[in-house]
Amino acid sequence: MNTPGALRLGILISGRGSNMAAIARQCQEGRIRAEVAVVLSERPEAAGLATAREFGIATRAIAWPGAAQRAQFEQAAAAALEDAGAELVVLAGFMRILSPAFVAARAGAILNIHPSLLPKYPGLHTHQRVLAAGEHQHGATVHFVTSELDGGPRVLQSRLVVHPGESEATLSARVQATEHIIYPRVIGWRADRRLVWRADGPWLDGRPLTQPLIEDFNA
Ligand code: GRF
Repeated sequence: MNTPGALRLGILISGRGSNMAAIARQCQEGRIRAEVAVVLSERPEAAGLATAREFGIATRAIAWPGAAQRAQFEQAAAAALEDAGAELVVLAGFMRILSPAFVAARAGAILNIHPSLLPKYPGLHTHQRVLAAGEHQHGATVHFVTSELDGGPRVLQSRLVVHPGESEATLSARVQATEHIIYPRVIGWRADRRLVWRADGPWLDGRPLTQPLIEDFNA
């Protein structure tokens, strides 16, 4: 499909792809002016690839040749993104680190979602670490990707209260449910050009975005 005026997305996944599905659903329901042009994964067995096909989305599995040969993967990924006409790269549970060159070539055109209130808890196992530290608040962050891991400009965060004695399973499920709301929302802002990337970083609604917006989810 090629919907006129829709922002074309190239989504990179490594696993389940629930964020990809949430984004694809909102695109197909016409709730955001975007279209998933292709879903790529370095894991052919990633469940999200099958889900994407159920949505009628083109998929590509590109083998990961090892970190030392990352350029090989990135070349194939870049070609697939270009073939699909992807304008925005959306990382959704993509578990590999892209090279500074790949990221620099797409400044302001790669988004990621991370399961913590960045800058707290970059990296892996965030829910477990949040519980171990006895944090009272947790959430997820949609941010632009730069060469600093989980360190690019933050756009929107979901914030929720950690329940006393809560398990990692329930906390991660609650955080993920908020991801499915905030990620499509930011993509929608980008599609509507409310969110733009300038030489000094992201702007939202005509103002520099120096701090992320925060949405509380404490029903
Ligand atoms: C999400 O929790 C996201 O924050 C993290 O990886 C997970 C991906 O989940 N980056 P899914 O594949 O979208 O279900």
